[in-house]
Amino acid sequence: MYIFKKNPFEPFALNDFKLKKNSLFGEAIVPGDKSMSQRAVIIGLASIGQTVIKGILDSEDVYYTLKAVEALGAKVDINKNKKTLTINGVGLGNFKSPKKPIYMGNSGTGTRLLIGLVAGSNATVTFYGDESLSNRPMDRIINPLKKMGANFVFSEEKKLPITVIGARKKGITMPIKYKSPVASAQIKSAIIFAGLTARGATEIQEPYKSRNYTEVMLKKCGVEINSKISKKYINTVTINGTSFLKNCNIKIPSDPSSALFIVVACLITKGSKVKVKNILYDSMRLKVFKILTKMGGMIKINKTSIDTCEIIAKYSVLKNINLHKNETTALIDEFPALSIAAACGKGKMIMKGLGELRFKESDRFKSISEGLCNAGVQVNTCNDDMEIIGTRKVLGGNTIFAHNDHRIAMSFNLLSLFSEKPIRVIGNESIMTSFPDFFSTLKLLKK
Ligand code: S3P
Repeated sequence: MYIFKKNPFEPFALNDFKLKKNSLFGEAIVPGDKSMSQRAVIIGLASIGQTVIKGILDSEDVYYTLKAVEALGAKVDINKNKKTLTINGVGLGNFKSPKKPIYMGNSGTGTRLLIGLVAGSNATVTFYGDESLSNRPMDRIINPLKKMGANFVFSEEKKLPITVIGARKKGITMPIKYKSPVASAQIKSAIIFAGLTARGATEIQEPYKSRNYTEVMLKKCGVEINSKISKKYINTVTINGTSFLKNCNIKIPSDPSSALFIVVACLITKGSKVKVKNILYDSMRLKVFKILTKMGGMIKINKTSIDTCEIIAKYSVLKNINLHKNETTALIDEFPALSIAAACGKGKMIMKGLGELRFKESDRFKSISEGLCNAGVQVNTCNDDMEIIGTRKVLGGNTIFAHNDHRIAMSFNLLSLFSEKPIRVIGNESIMTSFPDFFSTLKLLKK
């Protein structure tokens, strides 16, 4: 049971399902943007009054975040016919301290952002998650949030389960100046959410600009939040503490990262032509489509409104290119699908500075390189850099373990569309976290 659907995942998709190789044709709509959906729910909790959300992603990750905000005191109304969600928030800093620990499933974004929000409150909350989430680093948020006055109880490895004791339990939220060693929207957002209750201005610096939905969405709620980028790409965000968030309604377009899977499927499958509609128009998130165009992909992006576009893609023979380290942040979620495109392309794809991929739902650096090698594609790695030697003949016939990672599962299902022999993916259930209709969307596009 998720938000609107009872059983959103098609049983046929589990483990033994294989996509047929015939071309893809027609129009598709992919689900709502995951980053915006998670933030919409969290902002709903922290606002006073009603927040109406349209276009929310109906998936496992968002479901667990929604359950968490309910446990923290929000009242949630679901309108299944209109597909809207209404959240009655409790305002900033005064959340319920639930008696039971909160289960966050696989959701890194939901967990890290909520830990930030609770860190600036008077609540005490324990979060835990599935095996993949329990292995992801949390020290990257704990360190700055401690400086802001929050306390934590955690294991030696600083991983989930973690109990957060909000800074306002015994004192106040301190504004800080923090230089993040990595460009990460999750770290930045955790500090921003905590900074909402600080007295004064909190400043966060990141080496490259990461996605900025927290900043944009909070600004709409009346928060004083500004950012600037220096010549050396450094992004500095400043947020002034506030006493309340003005409630506003939120409309969420479709997720560019989910659209990418449909576009790559189309680019690598002979005779295909597909239009994906209502995609979030955001230059950072659309960067991957520019890269694929540079590789010779026939892709057209048409802007359809101030914040949406449609993407039209046609089967193409791709030519691999070199990617620079400073392009990594904008492509952070796209490397699994991009690597599949590169494996089916011609020549050498060089991708540098991929260290952050090791901290995603799985160690994606390893999942991608090992998975491609097992399918018969040559991959060379050195430290955080990876080279994929494209081949127009991927052997396949192997089995891939998704390691609880939706994007790894979807990516290797795509490779199976191109490989000589089918690739068996174990762990397709993970796709429920972001794109439960992945298989049926592709199935509907089959000619
Ligand atoms: C996300 C940020 C990214 C991304 C994740 C969603 C977000 O992580 O990988 O899927 O919504 O803030 P980092 O910014 O921590 O790299």
